[in-house]
Amino acid sequence: MSKTLVILAHPNLEVSRVNRCWQQELLQHPQEITLHELYKEYPDWQIDVAREQQLLEQYDHIILQFPLYWYSYPPLLKKWMDEVFAYGWAYGSTGDRLKGKYFSVALSIGNHEVNYLPGGSVQFTVEQVLAPFKASLHHVGAIELPHFAFFGASFQATDEQVGQSAVDYVEYIRNGSAVVEQG
Ligand SMILES: Cc1cc2nc3c(=O)[nH]c(=O)nc-3n(C[C@H](O)[C@H](O)[C@H](O)COP(=O)(O)O)c2cc1C
Repeated sequence: MSKTLVILAHPNLEVSRVNRCWQQELLQHPQEITLHELYKEYPDWQIDVAREQQLLEQYDHIILQFPLYWYSYPPLLKKWMDEVFAYGWAYGSTGDRLKGKYFSVALSIGNHEVNYLPGGSVQFTVEQVLAPFKASLHHVGAIELPHFAFFGASFQATDEQVGQSAVDYVEYIRNGSAVVEQG
């Protein structure tokens, strides 16, 4: 089975429940999953672009994991994409290094799932919220796999629910790896 790279971007993992639980679970599977924590690697926000590009080149299956903040990514992940998905590397006439790689998003969401359904109070589905991510992947020729989401993180999800989501997350990663291997 090919290994999966998870790029984790949480600005405050010490107070996190969901992403921290997922982090702990992912660390139990080092043969299958490489965890790369942006806020830990770059506390000064000075991203080593060459290092990040080399890391991405080693994997065909890449997951961006983050808590949904203002219907978007935490800011260091945005900076990472701005700098790492560079012209001549990720796009442009000679930029094809992400072409054909499989990407997806794993996100924790504060609000309940029902509010993200069509007609729900949020007024946008998660698929719609993830449109910039989808457009970016299309731009660099990568292939998008379905996202993984945990809803209701702001509404006292039980330890059992959070723990089960971590187990489900690893299963989701394995299923994605199987898709990648089938090509
Ligand atoms: C700055 C900020 C912005 C947030 N924006 C949203 C949002 O747009 N939609 C939503 O459903 N939840 C939102 N939330 C709730 C977070 O998604 C939730 O706290 C997070 O997913 C919980 O994950 P964690 O336990 O790993 O921190 C926001 C939280 C913060 C702190």
